[in-house]
Amino acid sequence: MELKDRVIVVTGGGSGIGRAMCQRFAKEQPKGIIVADIDPLAANQTAEEIGGIPCVCDLTLETNVKRLIDLAEGELGPVDLYCANAGLTYKGGCELPDPEWQRLWQLHVMSTVYAARLLVPGMLERKSGYFMLTSSAAGILTEIGSAAYSVTKHATVALAEWLSIHYARKGIGVSCLCPAGVDTGFLDHEDPIHQFLHMSAVTPEQVADLILNGIRDEKFLLTTHPEIDEFFAFKTRDYPKYLSGFQRLVEKLTKRKK
Ligand SMILES: NC(=O)c1ccc[n+]([C@@H]2O[C@H](COP(=O)([O-])OP(=O)(O)OC[C@H]3O[C@@H](n4cnc5c(N)ncnc54)[C@H](O)[C@@H]3O)[C@@H](O)[C@H]2O)c1
Repeated sequence: MELKDRVIVVTGGGSGIGRAMCQRFAKEQPKGIIVADIDPLAANQTAEEIGGIPCVCDLTLETNVKRLIDLAEGELGPVDLYCANAGLTYKGGCELPDPEWQRLWQLHVMSTVYAARLLVPGMLERKSGYFMLTSSAAGILTEIGSAAYSVTKHATVALAEWLSIHYARKGIGVSCLCPAGVDTGFLDHEDPIHQFLHMSAVTPEQVADLILNGIRDEKFLLTTHPEIDEFFAFKTRDYPKYLSGFQRLVEKLTKRKK
């Protein structure tokens, strides 16, 4: 899909990858871009930079996803490209309290389900539309520092696959971004796992280019580092070795932490 004259929504557009996406997409002369973010300052700033429309909203709630899509349709017309990119993480394993698990589930999965409920019928009628879901390398491999992040980002990939399987031949394209380290505020420089990711981090601008090209080519899986593809292939080839490799990495990083 080319972005000229398109109506675009970018969630998490206030900072990091989402902001870079808004800036890159704006150069393609779209009809307009809605910048959705829970952070009012960030949403307004990106929108101002690109001449877009801000929408300050917590996307974990269905009513807010509806308000976002109503705003896009009211101001610009039917949504052509919906980028479900907002995300966050909570460190820890299964001991993490339910509300944190639930928040990541709502943000990484249900917010896109809500958007798809509202957008898919119109896209099917027009035989045109696109979803770009930001998962993570954790969605096809793991994030050893966060069980809830790994699980919900796997679910993001599963949702993207499902949407593609059902709708790609009916005119709705789907891409799923699975980045490893990207140099944004998301990376916690005090955390040894994030420090490890930061060593080979790419810039959000590089990721925005990757996404734009991926949408142009209607490519499903978008990865930022060749190692992700290698590990993913290795996982399906030799699951036990893949798991023992990560077990060793956990030991190494935990020792470094002490
Ligand atoms: N930076 C990385 O290394 C990395 C790696 C893999 C995946 N990702 C994913 O990329 C996406 C973008 O992250 P980023 O690196 O740009 O981080 P970021 O923190 O700069 O951007 C995330 C944005 O999402 C917004 N957001 C959070 N909760 C929200 C909510 N409930 N409703 C609306 N907006 C909300 C934040 O305010 C923020 O502006 C996330 O989904 C993240 O999981 C990032």
